[in-house]
Amino acid sequence: MGRVIDKTPDRIAAMFDAIAARYDLLNHLLSGGLDHWWRARAVRALRLTGNETVLDLCTGTGDLAIALCRRREGAARVVGIDFAARMLERAARKLGARRLNGRIGLVRGDATRVPLPDGSVDAAAIAFGIRNVEDPRRTLAELHRVVRSGGRISLLEFGMPTLPGLGALYRWYFRCVLPRVGRVISRHGSAYAYLPASVGAFPSGEGFRELLDDTGFTATTATPMLLGVVYLYVGTRVAAATRDSLGGL
Ligand SMILES: C[S@@+](CC[C@H](N)C(=O)[O-])C[C@H]1O[C@@H](n2cnc3c(N)ncnc32)[C@H](O)[C@@H]1O
Repeated sequence: MGRVIDKTPDRIAAMFDAIAARYDLLNHLLSGGLDHWWRARAVRALRLTGNETVLDLCTGTGDLAIALCRRREGAARVVGIDFAARMLERAARKLGARRLNGRIGLVRGDATRVPLPDGSVDAAAIAFGIRNVEDPRRTLAELHRVVRSGGRISLLEFGMPTLPGLGALYRWYFRCVLPRVGRVISRHGSAYAYLPASVGAFPSGEGFRELLDDTGFTATTATPMLLGVVYLYVGTRVAAATRDSLGGL
């Protein structure tokens, strides 16, 4: 998986707690507002009907959970889980302002030990969270455990565009401009330098899609958006009998 970056849970949770107050502003600013569109794509990929219970793992300030409830064919209920208390506080405020507390429950928990029973949700999604988890395979296995047979998952994560010219320009923006803007606005010394470093060290595209396959998801796809700046990964949880025949992880 490339260069080793310290992703011990305490360190990552403390980093997100420290930037929680400016997280949304920076998200929208640094993505030029495209983050809303990316999350909408992740919601559509779940093919919900309006009756489902959906897990939003690594929910952060809750934007994906909110997007899941925005569409008529969205989720009936969402469970948003994150281990950073300050991020969850921001999420709770946003849900209150939108009167969504009745539909979205927030739980403090770790993505490698999801506090939900087996097969208890119809679908699950993670937006820009899996890259930060110390053991992403364990988290994918947790998604597989809590999603019912036949349920879908969708994940968003950053990639690195490889197109000549554009790739170099984007790398310059990502490695030079973004960390500086992030440092000034978030007032955090390293969080926005961690972002490009962690993206560079994480598998994207086919590499990550294969991890979904290895976990036992079927019909997996990796779709580049904005020429590979972000990838949308989708998969379906196979029925238990089929999974057993795969011989485990
Ligand atoms: C980049 S933010 C994404 C938040 C949100 N999903 C969004 O789209 O804006 C990553 C989030 O993942 C959470 N996170 C990272 N590792 C985690 C873990 N092991 N367990 C629970 N949450 C985790 C962080 O606390 C942070 O809130």
